[in-house]
Amino acid sequence: MRNEACVKPMGWISRAAARLGESLRIQLLAWIILTLIGAICVNLYISFHSADATAALVTDHTLLASARVIAEAVRVDASGNVEAEIPPAALEMFDTGYGDRVFYQVITAWGGLVAGFPDLPQPKAPDLGEDGDFRQDAVRLMMLDHPVVGLENAGTISVTVAVTHNGQYAMRRRLWLSDFTKQLALVLVAGLVTIVGLQRGLAPVLRLRDAVRERGRERLDPLPPDMVQSELRPLVHALNDHMERVQNQMAVQRRFVSNAAHQLRTPLALISTQASVAARESDPERRDEALQALRASTRQVTRLASQLLTLSRAEPGSRRPRSDRVDLTATARQVLESQAEEALRRNIDLGLEAEAPVLVEGDGTMLREMLVNLVDNALRYSSANGRVTVRVAQQDKSAVLTVEDNGPGIPEDERAPVFERFYRIIGTEPEGSGLGLAIVREVADGAGGSVALSDGSDRGLLVTVRLPIA
Ligand SMILES: Nc1ncnc2c1ncn2[C@@H]1O[C@H](COP(=O)(O)OP(=O)(O)OP(=O)(O)O)[C@@H](O)[C@H]1O
Ligand SMILES: [Mg+2]
Repeated sequence: MRNEACVKPMGWISRAAARLGESLRIQLLAWIILTLIGAICVNLYISFHSADATAALVTDHTLLASARVIAEAVRVDASGNVEAEIPPAALEMFDTGYGDRVFYQVITAWGGLVAGFPDLPQPKAPDLGEDGDFRQDAVRLMMLDHPVVGLENAGTISVTVAVTHNGQYAMRRRLWLSDFTKQLALVLVAGLVTIVGLQRGLAPVLRLRDAVRERGRERLDPLPPDMVQSELRPLVHALNDHMERVQNQMAVQRRFVSNAAHQLRTPLALISTQASVAARESDPERRDEALQALRASTRQVTRLASQLLTLSRAEPGSRRPRSDRVDLTATARQVLESQAEEALRRNIDLGLEAEAPVLVEGDGTMLREMLVNLVDNALRYSSANGRVTVRVAQQDKSAVLTVEDNGPGIPEDERAPVFERFYRIIGTEPEGSGLGLAIVREVADGAGGSVALSDGSDRGLLVTVRLPIA
């Protein structure tokens, strides 16, 4: 139970994060904000160090000035004694209102204390500011070596001045704050300008989205490519190409539906007339004739309807793609068995030449329909007493299925259009709807193969279907 409670909010959060990650605007904004936060952090660090260095420099200068004033006040009297009368100005220069305490020490080169605190630590080198501790306080120290006229052996004195950090730190804070606020304002203005620029840059993409969204189902005219920046124009071109393909596809579908309706209307009207004639006829023999004709017309419509259904199933995307391992030899044998009666009726020699099983990958039902249509054509368009041979073989990586007859064949200039839907060669007598070869091509294409027409060995037609073997 506890685990579930933990997992659920996590799932929700990761889903929300994933959704945010999908938004280009949010992604870009996140990057800009991250960059700004990074810039502000670097800015904080740099401005702190620069303020620290400046405040230390100013303190060092003041310490040096103070040491110099103290050094100037050191005198050697007539009897050679070194004495110093420290002027108040030397110490007052640290009176900045932060309660700093100042310490000093004046010693001769041989170590004699002239004035100040004897235990004040000395910096390592003269003229260089240094941090140190004096008694309980952290201090900034500065030492100055100064020659004193009249001192034994033309000697020098060392003046060390130390001051607590209050004033220095206050100055550092002020400098840092003012530097930081200026840079922060600069970064924020830059960030704001970038965000506005981003919004403006993304505006055409959003306009494109709205333009596509607002279109009705039927509006497929191209979008103007100049509505977006040049980098995005290939996307608009691709979108326009896609819409053109959809438009063409829709036109093909419309033509197909109208052709199908037209093809259905004629035999249905005939059926209606034949039914009326049969109903009116009192002579049993003539009524029988009318009923025979009615049955033939009904068969024609049924055949057309079943061919339409097969074609719609053969179209890409209409069925879930199936990849059965189909034995073409076995399928051919079944189809030939189912057509044997018709072949016998017309005294056609229907034969199969196949040795071993030839396996292909595809939709078994559709491959069977393809074969049915090829054998049906061969039987239907060959003259009585003709010969139809189906061969199945394997050549390299292809399965080769041929259906050969010795009928009238198809003239070369008709070999391309016969694959179109509802196309029939003018003058073809046997009934048909003109969909058989269109089905054959759809099935062959769908299985990754091809179909070709050529002359048979003894006049007639040779149909060759090549399919990749499984
Ligand atoms: N084996 C063949 N020999 C001669 N002509 C053929 C042969 N096969 C097809 N044809 C010609 O090609 C045309 C198109 O054939 P297709 O199979 O597409 O349609 P159909 O046979 O007329 O109708 P159905 O949809 O009922 O099969 C036929 O009308 C016929 O003129
Ligand atoms: Mg046919």
